[in-house]
Amino acid sequence: MNMLKGGTIKLVGLLLVAVAMSAYGVSDKERVAIEERIQPAGKSCMEGDNSCGAAVASSGGAKSPEDIYNTNCMACHATGAAGAPKMGDTAAWSGRLAQGMDQLYANAINGFNGMPAKGLCMSCSDDEVKAVVDYIVESSK
Ligand code: HEC
Repeated sequence: MNMLKGGTIKLVGLLLVAVAMSAYGVSDKERVAIEERIQPAGKSCMEGDNSCGAAVASSGGAKSPEDIYNTNCMACHATGAAGAPKMGDTAAWSGRLAQGMDQLYANAINGFNGMPAKGLCMSCSDDEVKAVVDYIVESSK
C-alpha cells in the first residue's frame, strides 16, 4: 500500500515536469511572434500608419467620464471608503438624488465632508466632474 502511494506521487511529479517542459518548449520564432502580439496597443504602430491611428488617439484625447471615474473616484466610490456612497448602491444614492442634480454637482466640484473637491482630479474641468457624477448616478439608479 505504502509503495503504491509513493509510486503514484513520483508519477504525478514526473507528469508535472513534463507539462512544465512543454510549456517552455516555445521556439525563438514563436516567442517573437507572441511578444509582438502582446505589445500594448499603439506601440507596434508605425508612424503614419492609419490602420491603428484610432487606438493611439483614444489614449491621448479627452478623458471619458468612465476614465475619470476609474482614475479618481473609484478608490472611494467602489469601496465605500470614508463613508462614500458606493456606485451601484441604489439605496445610498436615492436620498442624495432627492436634493437635485445641481446640488450633487456642486458638492462633487466644491467638496463636501469626506468628499474632496473634484475628487482630487485637479486637472478635471467642472463639466468633466459633472459628467462623471452623471455616470455614477446613471449606474446607481
Ligand atoms: C477620498 C475619497 C473620495 C474620492 C476620491 C471621491 N469621493 Fe465622492 N464622496 C466621498 C464621500 C466620503 C462622500 C460622502 C460625503 C458625505 O455625504 O458626507 C462622497 C460623496 C459624493 C457625491 C454625493 C454628494 C452629495 O451631495 O451627496 C458625489 C456626487 C460624489 N461624491 C462624486 C465624486 C466624483 C465624481 C469623484 C471623482 C471625480 C469622487 N466623488 C471622488 C469620498 C470620495
